[in-house]
Amino acid sequence: MCGIVGIIGNQPVAGRLVDALKRLEYRGYDSAGVATIHRGVMDRRRAEGKLFNLEKRLSEEPLEGEVGIAHTRWATHGVPNETNAHPHVVDGVAVVHNGIIENFFELKDELGAEGATFATQTDTEVVAQLLAKYLREGLDNRAAMLKMLNTVSGAYALAVMFKNDPGTIMAARSGPPLAIGHGRGEMFLGSDAIALSPFTNEITYLHDGDCAVISQGSVEILDFSGNPVSRPRQISQASAFMVDKGNHRHFMEKEIHEQPEVISHALGHYVNFATNSISPSATEIDFKDIPSLAISACGTAYLAGLVGKYWFERYARLPVEIDVASEFRYREMPLSPNQAALFISQSGETADTLASLRYCKENGLKIGAVVNVRESTIARESDAVYPILAGPEIGVASTKAFTCQLAVLASLAIGAGRARGTLSVAQEQELVRHLTEIPRIMAHVLNLIQPQMEQLSRDLSKCKDVLYLGRGTSYPLALEGALKLKEISYIHAEGYAAGELKHGPIALIDENMPVIVIAPYDRFFEKTVSNMQEVAARGGRIIFITDERGAAASKLPTMATITLPDVNEIIAPMIFSLPIQLLAYHTAVFMGTDVDQPRNLAKSVTVE
Ligand code: AGP
Repeated sequence: MCGIVGIIGNQPVAGRLVDALKRLEYRGYDSAGVATIHRGVMDRRRAEGKLFNLEKRLSEEPLEGEVGIAHTRWATHGVPNETNAHPHVVDGVAVVHNGIIENFFELKDELGAEGATFATQTDTEVVAQLLAKYLREGLDNRAAMLKMLNTVSGAYALAVMFKNDPGTIMAARSGPPLAIGHGRGEMFLGSDAIALSPFTNEITYLHDGDCAVISQGSVEILDFSGNPVSRPRQISQASAFMVDKGNHRHFMEKEIHEQPEVISHALGHYVNFATNSISPSATEIDFKDIPSLAISACGTAYLAGLVGKYWFERYARLPVEIDVASEFRYREMPLSPNQAALFISQSGETADTLASLRYCKENGLKIGAVVNVRESTIARESDAVYPILAGPEIGVASTKAFTCQLAVLASLAIGAGRARGTLSVAQEQELVRHLTEIPRIMAHVLNLIQPQMEQLSRDLSKCKDVLYLGRGTSYPLALEGALKLKEISYIHAEGYAAGELKHGPIALIDENMPVIVIAPYDRFFEKTVSNMQEVAARGGRIIFITDERGAAASKLPTMATITLPDVNEIIAPMIFSLPIQLLAYHTAVFMGTDVDQPRNLAKSVTVE
């Protein structure tokens, strides 16, 4: 996902813009650039690759100026090189853009037919060309901006500078987020509050369909028809602490080890520790009377939802329909207004998830959002917001957000069970007591298994394919383990329901493909062990992730057995997430991949 920053300052901005971009690096990118206006001259520096390449360019060819815009690009249209890096400049108009201009082909053809020449393969350049055209036709900057906004279509966040008005930055949002920062005699613009946190915590969030005219002392917000709209100034919770990895090599390692702490924050919001009950705030959605629940999300968030499905159905006897958001919204699932829907998203900005949310909203459903960013678009468009309180998650591979999502979903499922009368007070207290043990057990397990995980990852890093198996709530964990491994180590990995092995994947089994079996000693254990026998009988090598009772009960030979403490099955998914996260992390470290910003990936995918 791209990152946008802008400053209308009272001191040089190029260095501060790059520093602000560093706070957006976690979003994933492959090139970057800065443009400023100084004494009537608009100039820019751009570079392929990481920000230190841009810093190097700026040290060789400094950029002066107290007004500027800057950008980290995650390529959608056009290869990731300097030519395609933003800002794009056409006749004194500089543009940076996050998202996709969906009608850029036809616009590019029309502009080309009128004689426009294009320097890049990007959709963004079309925006700069349109603005330059409208200025040539005699429109003023504001009219040109509004006309452009009513011409392009798609999901985008834009920041624009005009050489003829160096004291102003114009911005517009139709999808990906944009925040305005109010400073002392300076104004700021960023893709999120984290980028602006070193400058200010007084933030105005633009909504979809907002166009902002930002100048030194003021900001005017309009709709795309030019009518003024009012947006509140609020104090952001984001802070600059997130750029600190502490004594860890990577954000991902730090975030894995933060889990005991942040899970306790999440539980503190949903659990009454005095009475071992779920707090009323956890049931803002009235789960009591709804006939069914829809859940939709992407990636790891979807897999958390898949675990949640088992819990809602088991503890609240509530039927759950779940699908990945990119499929959910196009299935045209029959929905009724008396249903509810939960959308799970760490960033709260994932375009597919947001589109599914809007589909359900159009159908009158009650909307709940399980998010890590309270000020996010998904949160703002929901009836009920369930924060996961994981703190900013910087590593592209989601870890602490996943287990915090699980803790929140478990709380909601128990709360729903009480509301629907399928759980007694005593049963609720028993389950909640287990939830409160998670932070302590997580901290113990992280210390317990760390050396073994590092050792095992050396072997895993030599493999080409890995299979993960699980049953019940360990099945989504098998999928998550495979996702974690492939997205940061680039090793091909698949997760499968253990019972499905004999329906096809068993054909893959040989001594070259480790099979990671996730099996706490629960109701499914014996059946999963028989699946392991099928693997062992064909020379397959098993990495067995189980607990003390499971290790004692299974006599099967394994490549390795990771023995976790015996835990209640409602917290097993949080605890058993730790070995699969650490396995992926250490394997990627051995592989030498970019653990925090794996190739081709973005932290939040704000394009469909
Ligand atoms: C998970 O490790 C990935 N980074 C990715 O699958 C992610 O979970 C997905 O893109 C959803 O993001 P969200 O939670 O911000 O909506």
